[in-house]
Amino acid sequence: MQYVDAHGARIPALGFGVFRMSDAEVDAVVPAALEAGFRHFDTAQIYENEAALGRALALAGAQRDGLFLTTKVWVSNYSETRFAASVEESLEKLGTDHVDLLLAHWPGDQVPVAKQVDWLNEVHASGKARFIGVSNYNRGQLRQAIAASAAPIVTNQVEMHPYLDQSALAALAAETGTALTAYYGMADGAVPRDAVIGRIAAAHGKTAAQVGLRWLIQQGHIALSKTARPGRVAENFDIFDFTLSDDDMAAISGLARADGRLVDPAGLAPDWTA
Ligand SMILES: NC(=O)c1ccc[n+]([C@@H]2O[C@H](COP(=O)([O-])OP(=O)(O)OC[C@H]3O[C@@H](n4cnc5c(N)ncnc54)[C@H](OP(=O)(O)O)[C@@H]3O)[C@@H](O)[C@H]2O)c1
Repeated sequence: MQYVDAHGARIPALGFGVFRMSDAEVDAVVPAALEAGFRHFDTAQIYENEAALGRALALAGAQRDGLFLTTKVWVSNYSETRFAASVEESLEKLGTDHVDLLLAHWPGDQVPVAKQVDWLNEVHASGKARFIGVSNYNRGQLRQAIAASAAPIVTNQVEMHPYLDQSALAALAAETGTALTAYYGMADGAVPRDAVIGRIAAAHGKTAAQVGLRWLIQQGHIALSKTARPGRVAENFDIFDFTLSDDDMAAISGLARADGRLVDPAGLAPDWTA
């Protein structure tokens, strides 16, 4: 496993995400993920599978201190009364007394960034989150969050895949020492079917899915991989034994399109150009 170091956090560069997975799918796939070597698991309050993830990890005998666990606070819990209380509920469901990383899931348009950051810091100070970060923040919001936060903002988790140019956000992340965590790395299943990526993959004896994940971690980002199919888990983990050339990297980056963004929910998403 490779790690990404950000402000004292040592984050496994490849994580396993459980978005859009039923409890039964989580039960079935998590043992395979552990077996393949995944130790970084990413869930969220809104996925409604924190309890299933906690149970599956415990049943598989995973050692808590060998895991890197992330959850995200949903926007409906962005209030004085609900933020910390909702994290308590998440910990209860996950069967742990702390997460490794706690994120504010979306900036939204209701609650100022400074408040979201205050509440993240409160949880951090209580020891219930080793590290804190944000998700789906634009550049302006990331700068604001960093300026407002007592504890470092170790990551911004955002949509990242070959069809979306995130170079401006990546430049700010590099400047501020913030890790970028890539979600939708497979572009919701399009990367494994891509002809250009498929040709590059064939030359390396790899699959397009593996090349998509490798392209992310080779840029120094953290990649989240999700599959509900235990048979695909080992494939998605096996990305550390080859290197994409500069030409490969450029060809994949060249797939970016103006309309490449897939996730842009009204009321949650910010102005991505700001
Ligand atoms: N912060 C946020 O707002 C946010 C938003 C979205 C996602 N996330 C996180 O990022 C993680 C990944 O995102 P995602 O799951 O939504 O999207 P994704 O990784 O872009 O796509 C997953 C899709 O790719 C398919 N797939 C996976 N491995 C494959 C392989 N080897 N060959 C062919 N197809 C493959 C999966 O199908 P099968 O399951 O059938 O294999 C699934 O349809 C999530 O689980 C979550 O933890 C965060």
